[in-house]
Amino acid sequence: MRHRPDPRRGLPESAHGARITPIYLSAGFVFDDFDQAEARFGGTDPGYVYSRNNNPSHVAVEARVAALEGGTGAIFVASGQAAVSVALLGVLKAGDHFLSAPSIYEGTRSLFRDNFARFGIEVEFVENPRDLDDWERRIRPTTRLLFAESIPNPKNDLVDIEALASLAHRHDLPFAIDNTVATPYLLRPIEFGADIVVHSASKLLTGHGASLGGIVVDAGRFDWGARPDLYPHLNESRRNQPSFVSRFGAGAYLAFTRSVVVNRLGPTPSPFHAFLLQQGIETLSLRLRQHVANAARVAAWLDEQPQVASVDYAGLTSSPSYELGQKYLPRGTGSIFAFTLHGGRAAARGVVDSVALFSRMTHIGDVRSLIIHPATTTHLHLTQEERDRFGIDEGLIRLSVGIEDADDLIADLAQALAALPAAAAHAAVPAAAAGPAATAAPAAARAGAGAAALP
Ligand SMILES: Cc1ncc(COP(=O)(O)O)c(C=O)c1O
Repeated sequence: MRHRPDPRRGLPESAHGARITPIYLSAGFVFDDFDQAEARFGGTDPGYVYSRNNNPSHVAVEARVAALEGGTGAIFVASGQAAVSVALLGVLKAGDHFLSAPSIYEGTRSLFRDNFARFGIEVEFVENPRDLDDWERRIRPTTRLLFAESIPNPKNDLVDIEALASLAHRHDLPFAIDNTVATPYLLRPIEFGADIVVHSASKLLTGHGASLGGIVVDAGRFDWGARPDLYPHLNESRRNQPSFVSRFGAGAYLAFTRSVVVNRLGPTPSPFHAFLLQQGIETLSLRLRQHVANAARVAAWLDEQPQVASVDYAGLTSSPSYELGQKYLPRGTGSIFAFTLHGGRAAARGVVDSVALFSRMTHIGDVRSLIIHPATTTHLHLTQEERDRFGIDEGLIRLSVGIEDADDLIADLAQALAALPAAAAHAAVPAAAAGPAATAAPAAARAGAGAAALP
């Protein structure tokens, strides 16, 4: 029996007609005979071999996410961090250089800056991700890829995906994008030219917060054979094997990433986690509708509060990302964003400690609402200068807005803001420490309802 997935139903072929994709908890798969073993290893028989290479539960969820993103294939791995790692290692080698937007998840930044550097792969962060010239003038002969997040975590400072993809393609480079915070329900970056889409499936794709996972999706359009000098690993034949490009064409990148990068490094998830991800995806559209509706209300409400200096949410007309949000995210600008309190760290401490409905956690995209103070947690190891540069102010709080009742969420934040001692609520943020967030003043603050209006 062949275990081939049916992408339309998200089901692997099942001997018993199970409606829910079975969990194939098996390390390996039996070969019928001597010849089949050789054919499986040689790639002429597509059947399963060993769960580190692939597994029917993984294949089912890979087909599902590839279909949602509009890609030609996907690889399911153990976490979002693993997805970003293998996605880029499928392109980059020692001596290569790549460009990244500066506003990205802090774990990804550390991975690029610290770990990739140890592999001899150099990352360069552009200063202003909306300035295409800033990207273009940094492209060198050794540059091999451009990277950004579709909704940057936590600052929501959007990039122009279509323009970046065209720029990358003009230089024969692929554009990779982390679509974790948007999900394919809000945005399908492949439709705007992205070549590689990665996800932390631990977040909104799964939604229930019970498991970790990561996904790499290939658009299947990039011509890896056009510049063999840039991507020799895909174009050169090795040990009597024809090159990946000659064997797989536009699928060369995914085949290499699966068989050489993932299979060798081994960030293999349990098939049980593929099952948990499948369960999450079943309700993606329903959850996302509620997430974005709640987030829009909470962000708008926060923007009017006198204790709040700014709200980094692209759905607000005061946001510098508003136009890009309208173009790329017409269904909603996400549910994970930051806001900055006038009262700095003391005010942030007060709010974080007072909320009752929000969980104090370093996680996002859960059906439950979550809250964290980045400067003392996710961004703690940065220097003050770096936190200032990235707009991670002492008064900045990140929210991941869940699917509870929006009125309850607002009531919880209202009581937390009301509980702030006058000193913490009113302390002004020193301009030098306020970072770029201070320049994106909310409507209420600009209208005088912010610190200036306080007694
Ligand atoms: C945008 C983004 N990408 C990747 C990751 C890493 O995902 P994981 O925690 O599943 O390794 C995160 C985690 O917060 C994230 O927010």
